[in-house]
Amino acid sequence: MARILITSALPYINGIKHLGNLVGSMLPADVYARFQRQRGREVLFICATDEHGTPAELAARAAGQNVRDYCREQHDIQASAADAFGLSFDYFGRSSNAPNHKLTQHFAKVLEDKGLIEERTDKQVYSVEDQRFLPDRYVEGTCPHCGYEKARGDQCDNCGRLLDPTDLKNPYSSISGSHNVELRETAHLYLLQAQMQDRIGAWVEKNDNWPTLTKSIARKWLKEGLRDRSITRDLKWGVPVAYEGTPRPGFENKVFYVWFDAPIAYIAATEEWAIANDENWERWWRTDKGADDVKYVQVMGKDNVAFHTVSFPATILGSDEPWKTVDALKALNWLTWYGGKFSTSENRGIFMDQALDILPPDYWRWHLMANAPESDDASFTLEHFASVVNKDLADVLGNFVNRITRFCNARFGSATPGEGAYGEPENALIQELDGRISAYAQYLEEMEFRKAFNELRAIWVAGNEYLQIAAPWTTIKEDKARAAASVRCGLNLILLFATLSRPVIPFTADKMFAIFGIDPDDGAKWPTGAADALSALKGDEPFTLPEVLFAKIEDDQIDEWRGRFGAA
Ligand code: 2FM
Ligand code: ZN
Repeated sequence: MARILITSALPYINGIKHLGNLVGSMLPADVYARFQRQRGREVLFICATDEHGTPAELAARAAGQNVRDYCREQHDIQASAADAFGLSFDYFGRSSNAPNHKLTQHFAKVLEDKGLIEERTDKQVYSVEDQRFLPDRYVEGTCPHCGYEKARGDQCDNCGRLLDPTDLKNPYSSISGSHNVELRETAHLYLLQAQMQDRIGAWVEKNDNWPTLTKSIARKWLKEGLRDRSITRDLKWGVPVAYEGTPRPGFENKVFYVWFDAPIAYIAATEEWAIANDENWERWWRTDKGADDVKYVQVMGKDNVAFHTVSFPATILGSDEPWKTVDALKALNWLTWYGGKFSTSENRGIFMDQALDILPPDYWRWHLMANAPESDDASFTLEHFASVVNKDLADVLGNFVNRITRFCNARFGSATPGEGAYGEPENALIQELDGRISAYAQYLEEMEFRKAFNELRAIWVAGNEYLQIAAPWTTIKEDKARAAASVRCGLNLILLFATLSRPVIPFTADKMFAIFGIDPDDGAKWPTGAADALSALKGDEPFTLPEVLFAKIEDDQIDEWRGRFGAA
């Protein structure tokens, strides 16, 4: 049986992530990992913080910290938030750790040996006051087209034109505001991607099971023609441009570009995992060391697709070494905050830590996944969130669990009633569930999350409808054995729901298992069929009455949150 390697796009180190980031990669990857573990697959789920680059340096400076301390602190903050959200990474590493330095330098060296790296000299804007070269977006000035005075060196936000920093009139550093800027020559390493056009094109076409969004983005880049790209930057913080400990002459003050080292960190974080757990990372990544039977799944936001279908493959295919490449690539669209951008500085939107301050993780996990931005961008609103939670979680799932356990306790006591046999209503239910469970599993397998969770919701609804039809509160008056069979079926449904729901609402699923004192790691094996699942509890199994699983969200809470999180 295939082993499954899953990576989520690596979250940037600067700042805790918002709900849009969460549903854009880490959460869907987690749901998929959990599902596959429950299916009994050997899963390795890897993530890490993406720590290099100018934004990290600037964020550290704004926080008044040195970049190393800043990153360490932010990494820990993100790790705790991920943990609190139930993101079940087997390892959450750091792109700034030693294995990534080593591996990034290794790839650069091998690519250079293959003639795929070349040194070129460019002119770039240098800020004398900041004592650094400025990346395009940190040069600002007056747009030559429309006269807007705060145009960025890469693009004018007023007229939308793409710019080159040298086009700007009256340029200045957006870091210090200093106008003392000049063009200076600087050398960089270029990865000669143009030479790899055919190879990458063939590799992309060979991957015939990628979803449409992924494939169309990759093809668009290929059609425009791959361009050589610079893979070094004039920065201090990053992977030094050195081979086997020796800095490359002329590159002493340069590092590799963050997008060159970040995807390599998928591999390096696996190495960190192996070191921490006395494991072997090569069997997951090297096809000459057993990784041939690995299915490698990547999950990311759509802005990352080009980097994963073209740039990173250029690195690993270019090396000619036997690295494992991606098999299934799931890309998500944007989740917006009331149709606009999430923004820390403008206090718009909910960030992971804030979300958990107001409600437990499963409320968010369910809403985000059941409404994941798959076919299009989706807008998060508190009103929609509340209606989904109140309907799906409180009215349908929570109410079901509450109702059947309380009824049983009142009329049969606090153990499963064993009398009575399943009859027609149970058989009809089993038939419906069998169809829906296999559709649900199929959608999860394909990472079609909205469709999957439509099925799961329908499964919960089917349980409620069954109870309405079986109506043990009525049948108990003349046929106690019939009522007992329906109640037993209802209690078994709790376990089945817990198993099926665990990939998406793991904390609640575990509470549902706890009702019967069952260890979820034993109880949550993926069901082989509804008939078997509904006969797990046979009679006399004791249970405890659960607390209410989901509290309804009230209008005054929504009002308060609207103000607090800047709902438009
Ligand atoms: O877009 C982002 O959030 C990047 N930090 C993703 C990097 S993915 C990987 F390649 F490292
Ligand atoms: Zn302009």
